[in-house]
Amino acid sequence: MSIAQGRAKKVTTHVLSEMKMRGEKIAMLTAYDFSLAKIVDTAGVDVILVGDSASNVMAGWETTLPITLDQMIYHGASVVRAVQRSLVVVDMPFGTYQGNSKEALTSAIRIMKETAADAVKLEGGREVIESVQRILSAGIPVMGHLGLTPQSIHKFGTYTVRAKQDEEALKLIEDARLLEQAGCFALVLEKIPAALAGKVAKEVRIPVIGIGAGHEVDGQVLVLHDMLGINQEFSPRFLRRYHNLFAEILGAVGNYITDVKNVEFPNDREQY
Ligand code: KIV
Repeated sequence: MSIAQGRAKKVTTHVLSEMKMRGEKIAMLTAYDFSLAKIVDTAGVDVILVGDSASNVMAGWETTLPITLDQMIYHGASVVRAVQRSLVVVDMPFGTYQGNSKEALTSAIRIMKETAADAVKLEGGREVIESVQRILSAGIPVMGHLGLTPQSIHKFGTYTVRAKQDEEALKLIEDARLLEQAGCFALVLEKIPAALAGKVAKEVRIPVIGIGAGHEVDGQVLVLHDMLGINQEFSPRFLRRYHNLFAEILGAVGNYITDVKNVEFPNDREQY
């Protein structure tokens, strides 16, 4: 029996809030397609993020910027069709919410209507607060994302650790408070010093999920393809690889090629 079958109650934003209050850690992973989302949900992960990292992982782009709203909706709907228990959050892609809160609401409504996901996530603090408020006012749950925000890579110029200096750390704390006050149900903190992430998690009442942000937060998120070792090129210090699927798949495909070449596949029982 899977872990999830024993407690198949759907995870809601309220459940996550209760988990924080109880001190129970939240496990979140990305998924972008039906088949892997089904495995991740069955395993009992609390939150599935249909991340715009699909731009890198699924489409092979260098950054998360090129992925479109239509493409995120395609991935989101595929994941939702597979999921029974996990809360599903869909990333709002670059260019669909910055600078125009009306457009932000229209984009968020499209995501909710066309994917049937549970929530959206967007990057940034004060700069996007109007968009966050407008989306929330339509009853759409919003997850914030601070620290290393990959949609701003051209502004940062590097994927290195953020908020190491006081000025940026103070802005991050202020942004976290603003997002909480606006009504966000949770916050992702990416690649910031562990002590700062722990401080934010203590200061806000909403769950704080870290990636490269240490363990003093309320939960963790990783990109599924990174933690399964499908993607071999990305090796930041914070990443723990739980498997080497690249090698496993390589071996299996190699065996298939050998069998086909040697006319060992299909055998008599594998034909009509
Ligand atoms: O897109 C994504 O996968 C993310 C996670 C890294 C948090 O935003």
